[in-house]
Amino acid sequence: MTASQTDDFLRMLSSEHVEISKRVADLRQFWSEVNELGDGPQYEEMGARIRELRDHLAEHFDLEERGGYLAGAIQRAPQLAEQADRLKRQHQQILDTLDNYSSRLQACGESYQCWKDVLVDIEQFLNLLHDHESTEAAIIVETLDVDNHSQN
Ligand SMILES: [Fe+2]
Ligand SMILES: [Fe+2]
Repeated sequence: MTASQTDDFLRMLSSEHVEISKRVADLRQFWSEVNELGDGPQYEEMGARIRELRDHLAEHFDLEERGGYLAGAIQRAPQLAEQADRLKRQHQQILDTLDNYSSRLQACGESYQCWKDVLVDIEQFLNLLHDHESTEAAIIVETLDVDNHSQN
């Protein structure tokens, strides 16, 4: 990849990160409305939304791993390789966790307690996902800066 292709790629990942946080915000809003209106639990809709997020993330992770995880960024900042390794390993865990939530939602039956329990776990998970994505976003910002400096 040329330097400008790397920049384009990293900028595309950045806009993907904005899209993902928008989807996460929509998901949170969905279930807080369900809870506020007291018309829950909405297992089916929630399960569908979780699967949709999972599929979107799977594509996003493929993109990040294309040609080696955040390859252009890590070439510019090899000191981040270890951190990058750790982030890459989280991808499969994130997808597995979302699969687990959709199975749990399916198995909830009529139990309202089950809905609440799954939501507590999903909330925690979304914080971890946020950490994952924002650490990547920081790597991208840092490596785009490296390039800008090197061009000056
Ligand atoms: Fe990632
Ligand atoms: Fe990401």
